[in-house]
Amino acid sequence: MAFPVDRPRRLRRTPAVRRLVAETRLHPADLVLPLFVKEDLAEPVPVGSMPGVQQHSLDSLRRAATDAVEAGVGGLLLFGVPAVKDAVGSGADADDGIVQQALRALRSDLGDSTVLMADLCLCEYTESGHCGPLTSSGPDATVDNDAALVRYAAVAAAQATAGADVIAPSGMMDGQVGVIRQALDAVGYADRLVLAYAAKYASAFYGPFREAAESAPSFGDRRAYQMDPPNADEALREVRSDLEEGADAVMVKPAGPYLDVVRRVAEAVDVPVAAYQVSGEMAMVEAAAANGWIAREPAILESLVGIRRAGAHTVVTYWATEVATLLRRS
Ligand code: PBG
Repeated sequence: MAFPVDRPRRLRRTPAVRRLVAETRLHPADLVLPLFVKEDLAEPVPVGSMPGVQQHSLDSLRRAATDAVEAGVGGLLLFGVPAVKDAVGSGADADDGIVQQALRALRSDLGDSTVLMADLCLCEYTESGHCGPLTSSGPDATVDNDAALVRYAAVAAAQATAGADVIAPSGMMDGQVGVIRQALDAVGYADRLVLAYAAKYASAFYGPFREAAESAPSFGDRRAYQMDPPNADEALREVRSDLEEGADAVMVKPAGPYLDVVRRVAEAVDVPVAAYQVSGEMAMVEAAAANGWIAREPAILESLVGIRRAGAHTVVTYWATEVATLLRRS
């Protein structure tokens, strides 16, 4: 018998064969684009640490949203930066709050052609930069979990009323999904989805986002509410409790450093699983590419296909529009 018998290279011989046998595919509809919109902004402001990403004005947001939808992306995830911050994050649920304004504008531009998602958190809206009201004004203050829940319920109702299809709570407060589900049902929005940031880690990879969202904590960090990086069993418990509380889909975040968690969650549940390729993951590739240290486009596609291969159905990525456009051309 000739050696070797098994020749796996046959499956890799030409681009057409490789395309035929690919086990995982990227599709524009599986990508969600995060967008930042800032109140009272006349012109968009580039985010230095996130090449290609901007803090949008309402007008530039509308253009970026339309571009994304035309490229075929599956959904848009909105983050707001208010003009004024306070202790309880009043801008988050104000009727004329920036995300509510944005939702109404995008709904009127885009109708039902895309899925409008609203990130639900208070860190962009509180003076402290923490994800809810604080327990005290002292140096050992932390976020008051149950006071945050009361605020989250109000924000969810405001976002749904303004037209959000999906409410995506990212504050990692205990009980947040249940409270939001009840609040939505109570105001007549039983039909809106909750996409729970179920396993959101206290990650160093959020750094650039905090510039974009102006949401860096003014003291301390988020380690007392976001998950500890060494833990994965705990992620499954978080996912389970969010599903019991009524989550329709669950998210793991960040994506790249937590692909094992994505895989385990995907195997454990039968609801859609999303993964968020966060600002730092993006910034690393952009910075390396700008230095000529890495081939930008192949690295972007490889990072995204890896997240899909790990088991994520939906990938939130700042490259959504660009990659959707690329995929449509190829
Ligand atoms: C808000 C929130 C954060 C991100 C998404 N929602 C930041 C944080 O928790 O500090 C990070 C997204 C990114 O880095 O791209 N709670």
